Order: sequence, then C-alpha cells, then structure tokens
Amino acid sequence: MKLERLLAKHDSLGRTRARLHILAGRVRVDGVVVLRHDLEVDRFAQVEFNGELLRDTERLLHFMVNKPPGIVSATRDPEHRTVVDLMNDPDRHCLHIAGRLDRNTSGLVLLTNDGRWSKRLMAPDAKVPKVYRVETRDPILPEAVDEFARGFYFHTEDLVTRPARLEILGEKEARLTLHEGRYHQIKRMFHRTGNLVVRLHRESIGGIALPADLPEGAWRPLTEMEIAGVFDSPAIL
Ligand code: URA
Repeated sequence: MKLERLLAKHDSLGRTRARLHILAGRVRVDGVVVLRHDLEVDRFAQVEFNGELLRDTERLLHFMVNKPPGIVSATRDPEHRTVVDLMNDPDRHCLHIAGRLDRNTSGLVLLTNDGRWSKRLMAPDAKVPKVYRVETRDPILPEAVDEFARGFYFHTEDLVTRPARLEILGEKEARLTLHEGRYHQIKRMFHRTGNLVVRLHRESIGGIALPADLPEGAWRPLTEMEIAGVFDSPAIL
C-alpha cells in the first residue's frame, strides 16, 4: 500500500491532507522521515505520524515443523492434513511454506509470514544447502557419487541439476546435499541411476537442523539465531 493511502485512512485525513503531512516531514517509516507520498509500505513497516505509532509492526513469525510422512506440505488441502493443521499458533493461517516436501517425505519444513526472509531463502542464487537422508530400493553404487556431482539433465525444465553431494552411508542409504529444489528432484535423480527412493527425510536447511528432541509432528518457533543464521551455512560440496 502507498504511504499516502495508509495515512489518508488514519482519522479519515483524506489524501490531500495526508500528502501535505508527508511533504511537511511529519511521517516516519521505520524511524526515518519520508517525503515520498507514493512510497510502498509493506505490512511490516513501522509508520509514525507526528511521533505517534500509526500502525504497529506486525508479528513476524518463523517456525519449524517436523513433518511426518503423509502430511501435505501446504497451508490448505481439501483432502489431507497439512503441516499448518499440526500447529496451534493463533496466527498459523497467515503462514506460507519456505520449501515444500513431497507428501511421503518427512523432516524439516519452515513456515513464516515473512516474505522477505522466505524469498531470500528460496532465491535460486542463494544456494542454501538442503540436506536429506535417503533410503533406496537397490544398492547405491559408488559411481553414483560422481553422477550426482556432475548433475543430471532434466528434460522437462531443460537444465542440468547443480552439483549435489552424495555421501554413501550404507548399502542402500545415503546423505544428499542439494542447492536447489526442483519438482521431485531427489526421486528423479535416483531414478536416473536406475534406482528408486523408498524413504526421504530432510535433516537441515542452511544453518537450521531438525533438532533431535523435536518429535515427528511437533513444531516450534525458530530462535533469533536460527532466523539470521539460516543463510550463514556455506555451500557444502
Ligand atoms: N526431492 C524429492 O524428490 N522430494 C522431496 O520431498 C524433496 C526433494
């Protein structure tokens, strides 16, 4: 919403008077005097008029959920339970998901109402690493490590996947680090090696790891350190 419009609604000032007040330097946005009546202010901006808070900063929300398999990674679904249905925070219905998982995948899901944060987190060039634990139907061959590092050509998107790090943990078990999130990406990658994913679990996103003491189906707010630190983890390759 434009600043002039926001101010005009206050005490029914009207647009002309609102604009004059802005030009007279009586309005601050996030503590700074703003003279531009057409400035776009988002719902998180703190706007002051004559030194009084016009509209308080909205509560910025950041949560993690330990998603069980079978729960949909969406805010609403006509048929299935969603990650939001697992929560009971009063503001849960204004959240969006920062990085979905398939219905049968388990593990870390982040939810927020902070569009700037999630946009930054999901930006393709942010290259925030996402770490998954994978179980497969057939043995994972040692040459798969190089194949994942080289990338796979995805015909539908006409692209080669970014180098991914595959650590073989057992005959049919691996840890995989991706720096992107394409549709069914891990299942498609393993399929290209002639294998099949039978279980998939997300362990971490950037600097945020699913805590061992957060049971499946449980959720909690992120700490300040997690909110800021999610971007800090270096690309792991
Ligand atoms: N890749 C997949 O195939 N599924 C997920 O849920 C996440 C990554």
